[in-house]
Amino acid sequence: MILTTKRLLLREFVEDDWHAVLAYQSDPRYFRYYSFTQRSAEDAQAFVHRFISWQKERPRTRFQLAVTLPAEGRLIGSCGVRMVANDAVEAELGYEFDPSFWGQGYATEAARTMAAYGFKQLELHRIWAACLAENIASVRVLEKIGMKPEGRLRENRWMKNRWWDMLVYGLLESEL
Ligand SMILES: CC(C)(COP(=O)(O)OP(=O)(O)OC[C@H]1O[C@@H](n2cnc3c(N)ncnc32)[C@H](O)[C@@H]1OP(=O)(O)O)[C@@H](O)C(=O)NCCC(=O)NCCS
Repeated sequence: MILTTKRLLLREFVEDDWHAVLAYQSDPRYFRYYSFTQRSAEDAQAFVHRFISWQKERPRTRFQLAVTLPAEGRLIGSCGVRMVANDAVEAELGYEFDPSFWGQGYATEAARTMAAYGFKQLELHRIWAACLAENIASVRVLEKIGMKPEGRLRENRWMKNRWWDMLVYGLLESEL
């Protein structure tokens, strides 16, 4: 499966992508809002392998694509939707990008295209996402693609020796 946007090409992960994933997941800016503080080659390999295993699902319910810059083929992040069951009418949206490419609208561009794929090709009714309330960049991406705030889960995540709030956002097919 391949999706294209104005500046990006989203393609299926291949095993060798773990090198590029490890390179950006080792940047401290990347894991600021994650529980871990370092990544190993094994972590990156497992991360990529999980998405490759989703490609074999029949019917397929989970999609996480490698986001690349088409000119040089460079992997700069990933973006996907995950249904909870194959008859699901809703899916969760998720993304992450190489910090070297933040702030250029790439996450917004990829997330918007992935949401459109979810509504048009997967015939979803609702796409939702959850992110740490303090992860302002992620909140902005969700807002920019038109997602509406649906709630705040107060202190529902314990990591880095403290509690964190999470925000839930949702988008309906009629709102795309
Ligand atoms: C969240 C993430 C994917 C955003 O990627 P990106 O390509 O920089 O996103 P975009 O450029 O499309 O948009 C980012 C927006 O956040 C804004 N932003 C970034 N940091 C900000 C801050 N500290 N305060 C306010 N706004 C901020 C940017 O200005 C931009 O908004 P704008 O277009 O209105 O100016 C990226 O930060 C990331 O990969 N983070 C680590 C992984 C992660 O948190 N994933 C999401 C888990 S829920």
